Amino acid sequence: MCDNAFLLAPSVLAANFAQLGREVTDVIAAGGDWVHFDVMDNHYVPNLTFGPLVCEAIRPYTQAPIDVHLMVEPVDPLVPQFAKAGANIITFHPEASRHVDRTLSLIREHGCQAGLVFNPATPLDWLDHVMDKIDVIMLMSVNPGFGGQGFIPATLSKARAARAKIDAHRRETGKRIRLEVDGGVKLSNLAEIAAAGIDTFVAGSAIFGAGLDSDANRYDTVIAAMRETLATVS
Ligand code: DX5
Ligand code: ZN
Repeated sequence: MCDNAFLLAPSVLAANFAQLGREVTDVIAAGGDWVHFDVMDNHYVPNLTFGPLVCEAIRPYTQAPIDVHLMVEPVDPLVPQFAKAGANIITFHPEASRHVDRTLSLIREHGCQAGLVFNPATPLDWLDHVMDKIDVIMLMSVNPGFGGQGFIPATLSKARAARAKIDAHRRETGKRIRLEVDGGVKLSNLAEIAAAGIDTFVAGSAIFGAGLDSDANRYDTVIAAMRETLATVS
């Protein structure tokens, strides 16, 4: 079982893009921990979102870490640009990089925490020779490209396997690695996901879909409910 504090990472893919700065300020004020920033290039995934300029634009609106999820190919050219734009964590899909070890080093050389993202069919073997360069492991519980999809239940056993790898590495080296899940996370499945060993939870539609009115504390209720649910997981 993990002993990292649970973190909530609202995904701005589901936010109101016409007032993204305000959305970021308010969702973190409501208790979000990281800003999950989904970068899609319409090449690695069949969708197109935003780039470093938008990351730079929201940077002044929060002190919270910006968790950049690169669904792009190639990966390397965007790493320095997002680091400069204010990213704190940069994760990427190993299939999208010709040289995974080099890309992880590149992210860390630019002062960001580095992570690998595992699609539902991507095996955890990619971790075997790079655990020393990884700060975050992210499991996709949907196929990447869109918000609002259903959670893939097989992710739970993959989470238990990843948690075992992380805990074994921690026993050997003392190094902490965060285990993040991304896609279809809701209040209703949060406890079982946490019980499987996840400590960091991306949620887009579950959070931004709940804040329909325009007042500043429109996300307080859903985030408080998520916190309460997580508190029940020992
Ligand atoms: C999907 C993205 C996810 C997505 C999560 O490719 O990586 O971060 O925005 O959205 P929900 O929580 O609505 O599934
Ligand atoms: Zn994501």
